[in-house]
Amino acid sequence: MTPLPAQNPFTLGVASGDPLPDSVVLWTRLAPRPYEPGGGLPGDGAVDVQWELAHDASFRRLALSGTVPAPAADDHSVHLDVRGLEPGRDYWYRFRTGRWISAVGRTRTAPAPGARPDGAAFGLLSCQQYDDGYYTALAHLAREDLDAVFFVGDYIYENAIDARAGARNYTDTPLPEVFDHWTWNLTDYRLRYALGKSDPDLQAAHAAHPWFVTWDDHEVENNYAGDVSQNDDPRDTFRARRAAAYRAYWENMPLREAHRPVGPDMSLYRRFSYGRLAQFDILDTRQYRSDQAYGDGWKYPGPDSEDPARTITGEAQERWLLEGLRASTARWNVLVQQVVFCRRKNTTAARSRLSMDAWDGYPASRSRVLAGAGAAGVENLVVLTGDVHVHYALDIKADFDDPASRTLGVEVVGTSVSSGSDGEARPEDWNLLLAANPHMKYYDGRRGYAVVTLDDTRLQADYRTLTGVVTPGAPVTTAARFVSEAGDPGFSRA
Ligand SMILES: [Fe+2]
Repeated sequence: MTPLPAQNPFTLGVASGDPLPDSVVLWTRLAPRPYEPGGGLPGDGAVDVQWELAHDASFRRLALSGTVPAPAADDHSVHLDVRGLEPGRDYWYRFRTGRWISAVGRTRTAPAPGARPDGAAFGLLSCQQYDDGYYTALAHLAREDLDAVFFVGDYIYENAIDARAGARNYTDTPLPEVFDHWTWNLTDYRLRYALGKSDPDLQAAHAAHPWFVTWDDHEVENNYAGDVSQNDDPRDTFRARRAAAYRAYWENMPLREAHRPVGPDMSLYRRFSYGRLAQFDILDTRQYRSDQAYGDGWKYPGPDSEDPARTITGEAQERWLLEGLRASTARWNVLVQQVVFCRRKNTTAARSRLSMDAWDGYPASRSRVLAGAGAAGVENLVVLTGDVHVHYALDIKADFDDPASRTLGVEVVGTSVSSGSDGEARPEDWNLLLAANPHMKYYDGRRGYAVVTLDDTRLQADYRTLTGVVTPGAPVTTAARFVSEAGDPGFSRA
């Protein structure tokens, strides 16, 4: 048995995720000393944690309560799948163990199946490299009125973090040495989540809204592809690293038991509905992809990158996605995923290098998804994306070389929370990218997040930006607002 903690174990906050009409996952992790392996909780048993779910923030009207174990084998994390809830409702939750009580979280269930909600608003987050800056964007996102948040990858980064936490420049309380090397094993990855989750702004953002999470590359290693490491490590070595990374990921995310990894494998792609308003297909474009063509990076496309045998989703996920689109009755079909979907040239010349790590490096996959969506009669296709640490508003074209060709949907690329440090509104390639890609309607290189609002008639994307993240406390502004009408896809500035 693990003894009851003598210090406050709720140092990493609370979270909720993957809301269904009648259920939501509640998460916390016990770690009285979060920067120590094991979180400062000795023992190999479990700690009993009491939980409460209420209709109000002051817990006067209790809906449900109970006790759940926080097993040492899961690094004392709790993944509670609360059932029997009412659709489209706010709930508040908290945990307790011994004399310690957690922060209060607010969550919201999805609307009933078949319901036609007036509208819904979603945050879009990605890329929070801890040592690149403060999580000010998350503090602002916590104050938004949102139904849920999508986090589309790079929750942690695998690089070494020095005592000053890089750009954060901690001088009063330096970080311990445990973070000052690259993440390789389970202890390394677990500690990296403890570091991130100690951040008060990240805790506020989790406590404020339910999150749907998916990963990109840095949760394991930069630009890995399936079980091929960026540095071509021996396959067994990399699979062991991936297993450690996936296990720590599951432990630290509000995910259901069904997604618990088995060795180096973890099923993460999944589907959610908001009544008849929207269907969200949350993708995993990392675990099953073919290795990047031409050695990765920005390369001229050719027979290798264009080989139809290559895939960014893997065959099973692609089939699942296309079947889901065929069965969909939703107004908006939203692919929630990692890397840029639209074609992106970096020169106005006819032939351009393209990013081999994005969908541009897997054009046959992109064509199959677009053809499948077309055959399914999907009218309002939306792609939500992260990865590139900038905001883009993009029109998905039937032929990216022909601006007059049909617009098949829109892609909202949301900028990073902190990765890339302060950034600037118009990076060096700003003019060039907009000229080279007529379907790119907007580009901003500052930090922040996006808010995507959907209703029966239109999609609205608000691009929030900050003046910087190296100094804490920057204000947030809406740098641009774009809309796309249902039935008539294509972004225009509002
Ligand atoms: Fe990133």
